[in-house]
Amino acid sequence: MTRSVNKAIFPLAGHGTRFLPMTKASPKEMLPLVDKPVVQYVVEEAVASGIQEIIMITGRGKRAIEDHFDISYELEDVLEKKGKYELLEEIRKISYLAEIVYTRQKESLGLGHAVLCGRQFIGDEPFAVALGDEIIDGPEAALAQLVGVYLRLNGPVIGVQRVPPEEVSHYGIAAGKEIGEGLIEIETLVEKPTPEEAPSNLAVIGRYILTPDIFSILEQQKPGVGGEIQLTDALRTLAGQRPVYAYEIRGARYDTGDKLGFLKATVQFGLKNPELGESFRKFLRSLFPGDPETGGR
Ligand code: UTP
Repeated sequence: MTRSVNKAIFPLAGHGTRFLPMTKASPKEMLPLVDKPVVQYVVEEAVASGIQEIIMITGRGKRAIEDHFDISYELEDVLEKKGKYELLEEIRKISYLAEIVYTRQKESLGLGHAVLCGRQFIGDEPFAVALGDEIIDGPEAALAQLVGVYLRLNGPVIGVQRVPPEEVSHYGIAAGKEIGEGLIEIETLVEKPTPEEAPSNLAVIGRYILTPDIFSILEQQKPGVGGEIQLTDALRTLAGQRPVYAYEIRGARYDTGDKLGFLKATVQFGLKNPELGESFRKFLRSLFPGDPETGGR
């Protein structure tokens, strides 16, 4: 019987070296897109996909994430006394979005190892994995798209998107037999290949629906690229044992753990913001007065 997906692992214990010095003492997942931290968008996506329980795998310097999803009595009291009821409501909602528990990955041994840290919490159920610095802005919540495929095929599903050939070396790359629109049964999975080695341009983008049989593979997994225990390597082993699928997620993706990705997301979310969008658009246009593409429109 196919079981529904109620739980998720959020691996948040990386060092965020691409965003130093900002990430020296603050988590990249707490960077704001307009007024909400990136990780809140990802929690909201999970909730919209039917996830009720989340385990966040954190590490040193990540305490701000726990505080963000906790109740802040003092702040609520201040807002109440000032009559700022709308803000109060918004702040309160954050602490009740989902059941969130935390555990620490004591050493950053890799994404695969971070997922293994969630084993006890997950038990014997299918579960989602979502990277807390990847935002996917689509017609349907990204994890919900994968849950749909999982329920149909009753097997692990990895979210992918096509990337330009010169970018394949930043990602895990999947390839296999096409069995439906945007859907493949995986035959090969390679972590950070060179453009020459890459079997396709389908990049693994930080959203997964997995089954608990991945844990015993992760337990045995030797370090791979970068000396880290890679989830991609364990998924390759799993794909040798049972069908594992890749599904092309619909939506605009922003890697906010990358400086340029973060800037792009900020601009897009700023433009979409109902209160600020129009003024922000005007400001951006004013930066390029002579540009025939944007000027005067
Ligand atoms: P990244 O490859 O983005 O690594 O990890 P990172 O350390 O976060 O960032 P950079 O590349 O140094 O800038 C992918 C995801 O896996 C988590 C990260 O938090 C991120 O969400 N991760 C990685 C862990 O939880 N533990 C690890 O040991 C490694």
